[in-house]
Amino acid sequence: MAKKHTIVKLPGDGIGRVVLEEAIRVLEAAGFDADYVEGDIGWEFWKTEGNPLPQRTIDLIKKHKTALFGAITSKPKDAALEELNPELQNKGYVYSSPIVGLRQHFNLDICQRPCKTYKGNPLNFIRRDGKGGTEEPEIDAVIFRQNTEGLYGGVEWSDPPKQIHDALMTHPKFQKNFGEVAKEEISISTRIFTQKATERILRAAFEHAKKFGYKSVTVCEKPNVIRETSGMMFAMAKEIQKKDYPNIELWNTNIDAQMMWLTKTPENYGVIVSGNMFGDIVSDGYAGLIGGLGFACSAQINPDNGIGVFEPTHGSAPKYAQYDVSITNPVAMIASACLMLDHVKEYDMAERIRNAVAQVIAEGEVRTYDMMKLKGSPDVTKQGAASTQQMADAIIRKL
Ligand code: NAI
Ligand code: MG
Repeated sequence: MAKKHTIVKLPGDGIGRVVLEEAIRVLEAAGFDADYVEGDIGWEFWKTEGNPLPQRTIDLIKKHKTALFGAITSKPKDAALEELNPELQNKGYVYSSPIVGLRQHFNLDICQRPCKTYKGNPLNFIRRDGKGGTEEPEIDAVIFRQNTEGLYGGVEWSDPPKQIHDALMTHPKFQKNFGEVAKEEISISTRIFTQKATERILRAAFEHAKKFGYKSVTVCEKPNVIRETSGMMFAMAKEIQKKDYPNIELWNTNIDAQMMWLTKTPENYGVIVSGNMFGDIVSDGYAGLIGGLGFACSAQINPDNGIGVFEPTHGSAPKYAQYDVSITNPVAMIASACLMLDHVKEYDMAERIRNAVAQVIAEGEVRTYDMMKLKGSPDVTKQGAASTQQMADAIIRKL
């Protein structure tokens, strides 16, 4: 009999392949009723086919809509060309990131990155309490990052074409500040926000706050300086809040100040919403407070076509990929699988897995090397660190 869900699994490269299998083991132990079909993605397919995101993989995701993604390896342009199959050399193949490719192809414009403290995690952020002691704030923030536009939109030039330069010269500030500089000596990266995408990320943030009972939504940008784009985002947030979410408070912070608040009062913030780059920054900042790459999970979603790709924020950690016994922390991947469960409305199952992870961390008997502050090496298991599999086993026992 066909299972209730079909999930596209995208192992990718390096430790992505390992942590993904562990997450699937946890999903199965929790009773998630799914078939998994594997999609090809990553370095292997760049080397052999000149395309790290083959069309067949895009077709699979389009058909099944939900994908669990491990991690991929990517390398700079020259290194990529060197490793390309000799038969494909000099045929115009150019490497580009399959993750960015996925985002653009399916317009996965809503990126959600929750950062919640696991009690008892030895990597939790600690601060001074002002009375000679320390305290450990309990953090529960969810960052909504616009995933397709802004500074990462890819519209940029060094030595811009003449029409671009001429157009910019019509702006008084460009003329005054840059008018004397030779065109060849100018590089430009644009920061484009559209009303449509801005409204979508804002609404996703407010909706999440409403659904999960957060009292505030914070727009984290810089509207006093970046007046047009950040300014537009905050102005739209005010309208949306007033009209549709009057019971949720709307806060406004600047990205620079927000990074300072992370070390002072990170527990005060609930849902945070930002453009592409500031969202990247603030979510990495928050991830650091709850234990870093071993714990940071993400969802990338397009609510219109229903497509969701769920992945840890860490990469393929190639230096650990060759170990006979894997040592990396599977929690980031397992937490990403929980976001996937939320997406397919298996809320209870997601909660059960989250509780199991929380219990294992709170008890503290099974800890991966990162949680013990060890330097990664094959020896860490001899020093008491759990392997990737042992960590997943411990979580499964709690289910
Ligand atoms: P990385 O995230 O792969 O690893 C950096 C370091 O973080 C590792 O050496 C390890 O010490 C630690 N780490 C990462 N994941 C961990 C885990 N689950 N448990 C414990 N410790 C963990 O980043 P790096 O080294 O900058 O990049 C390696 C490759 O991954 C590159 O080819 C890069 O392009 C790619 N990458 C891919 C991403 C993705 O697939 N979304 C994101 C970031 C990098
Ligand atoms: Mg990042």
